[in-house]
Amino acid sequence: MVQTMYTLCMRRPLICANWKMHLPPAGWDAKDSPYRPEAGIDVVVFPPHGYIKHCIDAKLTVGGQCARPETAGAFTGDMSMAMLKELGCTYVLCGHSERRKYHSETDDFAAEQVIAALEAGLHPIVCVGEQKKDRDIGKAEHIVEQQLSLLKNYHQSITIAYEPIWAIGTGLNALPDDAQEVHAFMRRLLLEDIRTSVRIIYGGSVTGMNAKDFLSHPDIDGLLVGSCSLEPKHFHEIINAANTLS
Ligand code: PGA
Repeated sequence: MVQTMYTLCMRRPLICANWKMHLPPAGWDAKDSPYRPEAGIDVVVFPPHGYIKHCIDAKLTVGGQCARPETAGAFTGDMSMAMLKELGCTYVLCGHSERRKYHSETDDFAAEQVIAALEAGLHPIVCVGEQKKDRDIGKAEHIVEQQLSLLKNYHQSITIAYEPIWAIGTGLNALPDDAQEVHAFMRRLLLEDIRTSVRIIYGGSVTGMNAKDFLSHPDIDGLLVGSCSLEPKHFHEIINAANTLS
């Protein structure tokens, strides 16, 4: 059933390993490492900037964790989208909640990043999601709708990552049924001609134990994995879950 859905909609599962500011996990470049590209699914690693080149050289598919929208300038410590592209990146995260929290990035800034990423030839994965207080008063859908509305001219060219902020790094994942509801809501916001082709992935305390449950839902096309992606054994379980469903 799920297999038919993916096939019909041509949405290949996308599994992302966001290593944040951590060293690449032991064995990351081994021949049988779970971070390597797979036949039926897209596996992408997001290393700290200093390790991008190592991962490219090891023939992994790589994304940048962030980059500024400007093409050059006095932005100490930052990189441009074109620089990520030149290093060999294929993807880039835009508007991750940790960038919003620690670097004051906003929805408008994420929209600028998306435009710059596309101009540089990178595929943007845009993170959206509500705070716990918004969910508690039933505003989760309102928040993601606002965030996506800024990107309406680019929906066909992005991947959407639903990352409820309260679920990131907390061990408190969204219930897969609840995530599916938000994903289905976001899919309905997309124009009809692109509705079945845009990938919407989930992130927030994904583990080897819950991955299959998320991926079994028809509108959850992949996973953005933080903590668990640093443990090859558990990340392998996530890849296996995607493989059995793809
Ligand atoms: P987590 O992080 O899996 O540790 O919750 C997810 C993310 O930050 O994308």
